Amino acid sequence: MDHASDAHRTDLMTITRYVLNEQSKHPESRGDFAILLNHIVLGCTFVCSAVSKGEEQKKLDVLSNEVFVKALVSSGRTEDEEATLVDPSKRGRYCVCFDPLDGSSNIDCGIFGIYMIKHDGELTLADVMQPGKNMLMLSTGSGGVNGFTLDLPLGEFILTHLDIKIYSVNEGNVKNWDEPTAKFVEKCKFPNNGSSPKSLRYIGSMVADVHRTLLYGGIFLYPADKKSPNGKLRALYEAFPMSFLMEQAGGQAFTGKQRALDLVPKKIHERSPIVLGSDDDVEEIKALYAAQEKKE
Ligand code: F6P
Repeated sequence: MDHASDAHRTDLMTITRYVLNEQSKHPESRGDFAILLNHIVLGCTFVCSAVSKGEEQKKLDVLSNEVFVKALVSSGRTEDEEATLVDPSKRGRYCVCFDPLDGSSNIDCGIFGIYMIKHDGELTLADVMQPGKNMLMLSTGSGGVNGFTLDLPLGEFILTHLDIKIYSVNEGNVKNWDEPTAKFVEKCKFPNNGSSPKSLRYIGSMVADVHRTLLYGGIFLYPADKKSPNGKLRALYEAFPMSFLMEQAGGQAFTGKQRALDLVPKKIHERSPIVLGSDDDVEEIKALYAAQEKKE
């Protein structure tokens, strides 16, 4: 065994350390968020281990959901959608909306949106129907986004991408797009200002596509179109968490009508069109939507 390198690894910034350090900057906090996050991290470690063992996709969906529901309930810091899972005496201060495995064809990606419950009374759906801007995330207030990667043998998420700063669309839907989206994508391919065309990269997994956009810059679009007037992605547990991260990384998130995080959903599984990415790219498509509005 290499004791020197093992000793060195004890210096690593794990997600637990990071959250505890951040929390110590807020002595007024009760530490609930740190505890909640720790339970989510444990759930992630469990799901990663199941994925690495090659469990069947269907089973993984069900398993991941169970893992996270259990992890969240046992944290004692959350309420669930129906408010039936958490014993009222163990009621927490947070609602967590999550997509445990992103899409049916993508494994190993989960999204969590954590919302604070702002009263002590009975929990209602209104507690979850909050605009994305009310969300808390790993960006813990001081700005910037931090990327952690799971080191499976160690069983810990290690800080790998410090202060990540900030293109991607399903072009198969082109015939159904509205004019601003079609114009924007055309400009990405054939810029009229002498700059080089952008490269199209599309995995078809929001987490992976947005992760790449966070690392390398650019823009991710799942716009409204003639077939899907509200886009495809779910506001509470797809568009909002990713929009929040994008804003924290210095970018913008836009629905085609408004800042994504200002949207107040009316249904748990409500969809929203979403465009998110670096500031200048989103500004460009916003200008096209504004011009379109003027014409109408
Ligand atoms: O909502 C599930 C999802 O797989 C997202 O992660 C992804 O962005 C989107 O669907 C891909 O949809 P499409 O196959 O229509 O491009």
